Amino acid sequence: MGLFSGMYSLRLVAVLMLLLMVANATAHELALPNSKPGCLRECGELDIPYPFGTRAGCYLNEDFLITCNTTHNPPTPFWGDSNIPVTNINMDGQLQIQTLVSKDCYNKTDRIDSIWNTTLWLAKTTISDAQNKFTVVGCDSYGYIRGKIGDKNYRGGCISSCGSKDDVMDGSCFGSGCCQIDIPKGLKEIAVEAYSFNGLQNVSQFNPCSYAFVIDDSQFNFSSSNLSIITERVPTVIHWAITGQGECEEARRNKTSYACKQNSECYETDANNSVRGYLCRCKDGYEGNPYLSCRDIDECENGNHLCSKHAKCTNIEGNYTCECIKGYNGEGRKDGDSCMLNQSSTVITKIVTGVGLSFVILLVFSSWLYFMFKKRRLVKLKEFFFQQNGGILLQQQLSKQSGSCDTAKIFSEKELKKATNNFDEKRIIGRGGYGTVYKGFLKDDKPVAIKKSKIVDKSQIEQFINELMTGKKVVSFARSEEERSLVNYFLFVLNEGCFFEILENGMVNDDNTEHIRKVAELARRCLRVKGVERPTMMEVAMELEGLRRMLNVEVDIE
Ligand SMILES: *[C@@H]1O[C@H](CO)[C@@H](O)[C@H](O)[C@H]1NC(C)=O
Ligand SMILES: *[C@@H]1O[C@H](CO)[C@@H](O)[C@H](O)[C@H]1NC(C)=O
Ligand SMILES: *[C@@H]1O[C@H](CO)[C@@H](O)[C@H](O)[C@H]1NC(C)=O
Ligand SMILES: *[C@@H]1O[C@H](CO)[C@@H](O)[C@H](O)[C@H]1NC(C)=O
Ligand SMILES: *[C@@H]1O[C@H](CO)[C@@H](O)[C@H](O)[C@H]1NC(C)=O
Ligand SMILES: *[C@@H]1O[C@H](CO)[C@@H](O)[C@H](O)[C@H]1NC(C)=O
Ligand SMILES: *[C@@H]1O[C@H](CO)[C@@H](O)[C@H](O)[C@H]1NC(C)=O
Ligand SMILES: *[C@@H]1O[C@H](CO)[C@@H](O)[C@H](O)[C@H]1NC(C)=O
Ligand SMILES: *[C@@H]1O[C@H](CO)[C@@H](O)[C@H](O)[C@H]1NC(C)=O
Ligand SMILES: *[C@@H]1O[C@H](CO)[C@@H](O)[C@H](O)[C@H]1NC(C)=O
Repeated sequence: MGLFSGMYSLRLVAVLMLLLMVANATAHELALPNSKPGCLRECGELDIPYPFGTRAGCYLNEDFLITCNTTHNPPTPFWGDSNIPVTNINMDGQLQIQTLVSKDCYNKTDRIDSIWNTTLWLAKTTISDAQNKFTVVGCDSYGYIRGKIGDKNYRGGCISSCGSKDDVMDGSCFGSGCCQIDIPKGLKEIAVEAYSFNGLQNVSQFNPCSYAFVIDDSQFNFSSSNLSIITERVPTVIHWAITGQGECEEARRNKTSYACKQNSECYETDANNSVRGYLCRCKDGYEGNPYLSCRDIDECENGNHLCSKHAKCTNIEGNYTCECIKGYNGEGRKDGDSCMLNQSSTVITKIVTGVGLSFVILLVFSSWLYFMFKKRRLVKLKEFFFQQNGGILLQQQLSKQSGSCDTAKIFSEKELKKATNNFDEKRIIGRGGYGTVYKGFLKDDKPVAIKKSKIVDKSQIEQFINELMTGKKVVSFARSEEERSLVNYFLFVLNEGCFFEILENGMVNDDNTEHIRKVAELARRCLRVKGVERPTMMEVAMELEGLRRMLNVEVDIE
């Protein structure tokens, strides 16, 4: 168990490492190089972009040397070969360095631990007059800032005073505990001095030192606690630029020394920057380090584009295009005429859709009508056949007998089909002139004989219905003389004693022989020539009823 889980976690670690390696490789491939290959990219927390570098071959020239002292922990980058730490390099020509604070400190009686004169010797550059301020902090204090503007000497200063710690206001630097002055443009060879009027007499308890420094104003917010705590160094912003080649136009002429590389452009250091030189930046639509190379930004990929929702974004060199998708038109950009639904195409679409839909509806409706018509025709045809086959006549005859029970029943085609196993050839028990007789079974397994009409001849429908025995026509010249009339033929066969031979196949079985004989006898009596010899209709009816009842006792229906 332990071994297994151990192996499992080992494998998991391996997989994770692999993933990390892949991710790293991908990131490196995609990341734009910010430094020259083989050069230190960072020192401590500072990124070192070209033209800056830590050694020859890594920087553009010695003006851009950053010394990384790795004996410090963490490694500390220094400005040139000075002892001034660098904390930020901005590609817009600004550099943040940490400058020493000047201080004049006392215990109750003596001046102690003072660095009351600090200097900022910056050979080829100046401090940012816009971003920095000369600041003095203390309650019995004043400070000077000295330097040179061109050939002239400059000396400025401010006084800061207060009675007690509670008198000073946090966030406010107007002379009470803190004073500030702007820095004049182009000030060089700066020295900063901090002093006390009376050796901080009566205030040294909460304000042991007078402080003076040049600070990036955006990084400073005075508070009463600064009366006792000011860090050893403060952030100061200085300018940098490519110098010694003139400004853009001039610099561009010497291709070997011109620092702005592929897809970048040159711009002059702004008027506030007294360093005469130029800077480079990537053209719009490009990214990277302009002193190495800039590459196209895929705005469509990173989503930083203005294409409207209904536009297709296509990346092109240095820009991207927005093309309205089908059915829309307009500029395609959110700021321009965005993509609007193309009215004309909408109308066409509507018409096409409408026509198509109408056609489909028409098709469905006409098909439905056709099938309904066909069905109706089938029903009518069935009705017609029912009529033609004497269905109505049969119905009428049956309804006449409806008084008595269990006379006969009209079966539907479906029932008959089922009874005869769909008029199976094997079920045929006889063939007559007008139809075929099938043996069938009703639902309750009662065997029945079913006669199916063959030829439809309107004149013989009645005959077909009444023909209930010989399967022969009433009068047929095709038969011999004595057989020509079915009546005579009937009497003849009855006299000859071969009556059963003329009956259709399947009509006679062991159960009904006696009954058929009796009915035949009755029929013979009805056919007597002399009226007195014929039975009355009453007698015939009574005799038939009697026979029917006897039949019912023996068999139900056949
Ligand atoms: C690095 O810093 C240490 C300690 O401050 C100093 O002794 C050493 O000379 C420095 N090294 C360089 C190369 O500046
Ligand atoms: C002030 O500092 C001096 C020199 O370090 C020392 O001799 C003296 O005792 C200190 N006085 C007080 C009140 O701490
Ligand atoms: C402060 O230092 C600078 C440079 O070393 C010097 O020129 C200046 O005179 C000094 N100020 C004082 C008051 O000593
Ligand atoms: C300066 O600090 C005070 C309180 O210490 C705060 O109210 C104020 O917002 C801060 N101002 C800035 C610009 O940070
Ligand atoms: C310090 O306080 C004492 C006693 O109140 C006073 O005489 C002296 O003038 C004060 N010093 C300063 C510089 O205000
Ligand atoms: C001023 O005091 C604040 C709060 O204690 C501190 O964070 C800040 O570093 C101080 N400013 C300077 C320049 O030391
Ligand atoms: C161009 O710059 C290179 C390198 O800085 C320099 O050696 C060369 O003299 C310059 N050419 C001209 C015409 O200024
Ligand atoms: C340049 O200086 C002017 C006034 O001296 C100031 O308004 C402006 O913000 C400065 N520009 C920069 C980029 O610092
Ligand atoms: C990109 O294309 C748009 C529209 O054609 C144009 O307005 C914009 O200035 C272009 N941007 C660049 C960097 O060429
Ligand atoms: C609108 O769509 C129609 C049909 O697709 C096309 O012919 C026409 O040019 C489009 N109109 C515009 C302004 O794009």
